[in-house]
Amino acid sequence: MKPRYLLILTVALALTGIKQSCFAQATGNFKPQKELLHLINLNFNADARQYKLMAQALTPGRFPKTYEPATGKFETSNSGWWCSGFYAGTLLNLYKATYDTQLLKKANLSLDSLDKEQYNTHTHDLGFMMYCSFGTASRIAPKPEYKQILINSAKSLATRFNPAVGCIKSWDSKPTDFLVIIDNMMNLELLFWATRETGDSSFYKIAVTHANTTMKNHYRADYSSYHVVNYNPQTGAVLQKKTAQGYADESAWARGQAWGLYGFTVMYRETKNKKYLEQAQHIAHFILTNPNLPADGIPYWDFNAPNIPAALRDASAGAIMASALLELCRYSDKKDGLIYFNTAQTIIKTLLSPAYLAAPGSNGGFILKHSVGHMPNKTEIDVPLTYADYYFVEAMERYKDFTTQ
Ligand code: GLY
Repeated sequence: MKPRYLLILTVALALTGIKQSCFAQATGNFKPQKELLHLINLNFNADARQYKLMAQALTPGRFPKTYEPATGKFETSNSGWWCSGFYAGTLLNLYKATYDTQLLKKANLSLDSLDKEQYNTHTHDLGFMMYCSFGTASRIAPKPEYKQILINSAKSLATRFNPAVGCIKSWDSKPTDFLVIIDNMMNLELLFWATRETGDSSFYKIAVTHANTTMKNHYRADYSSYHVVNYNPQTGAVLQKKTAQGYADESAWARGQAWGLYGFTVMYRETKNKKYLEQAQHIAHFILTNPNLPADGIPYWDFNAPNIPAALRDASAGAIMASALLELCRYSDKKDGLIYFNTAQTIIKTLLSPAYLAAPGSNGGFILKHSVGHMPNKTEIDVPLTYADYYFVEAMERYKDFTTQ
């Protein structure tokens, strides 16, 4: 869509909202629509039923990964898979929304199988795995054991930091490589939490250094991001900028853009340093004015996918973007904030439509259809994914939060 049409669409959405006077009680610039809030509340109950259905199919100690709609095959993982924390996190967020204690029970069972990952030093994904799960559990009902698990997880993550590079290592590889992916921005929130809880500023410093190095080397002049940067582990020199999950080295892989948007928004929340806010706003500008962003807000799996408009969409990238924009709008001026809020609202509406929302009892219990995991690998293509559900539920909760300001 051309930028001017996007602008017209967002302004039109804002005006429609004003004309209909259908706002829930709210203060501030952003006024959620009553009908959408109603739909979200109904949907939380439906989501809870979906996740209870999924729970029935899970064997103890396993974690949902995806579901093949064509074959009915439910794929699971062990606790070491980068997505292992999203299931408990979604159950807990749905528990918060519905007070259905069965969800809490299922979440606690999953946390029991996950807690050994606090000592895993072979992954950079500990933020996803442990903060989305134990961090959420801790916010709902803090417990000393959750706190200790999260501190140990932050310590494990910090072992992967290399001061010569100024980054946490993402993927283990040969000793002459030091691979950092944009997704890694999402694991920094755990480090900020750890400094707050322990008073040890080294976690904070690692997060800030990683973000600064990423800002310098991962981003192009148009504020799109490379997926992977390979550094010399001794000198920190950049060896390669490339992709792993995107269409091409120079393309803009949609979920990577979403991770960066979310990650730099968190950086601003945690540091209040304006350079991170500006970075997040530049990334938002790249995404929202991109001629290849469809009007319904759900990106193609890569902004430069070769067969647009026939290319597959990635619901997970849309959900992550919606959630990030609903935080970024709070830190932005009224004009940009409204664009972010209205775009997030559009994405939520699209994901709540039958095109993306699974019919009750279908989709292996997952909430959303149509995400793309790893196109070049030919895995998880046009399927449900745990992180699409997690960030969709989070986005809907964030939207609801505007009624209680
Ligand atoms: N590597 C995490 C993702 O697929 O977004």
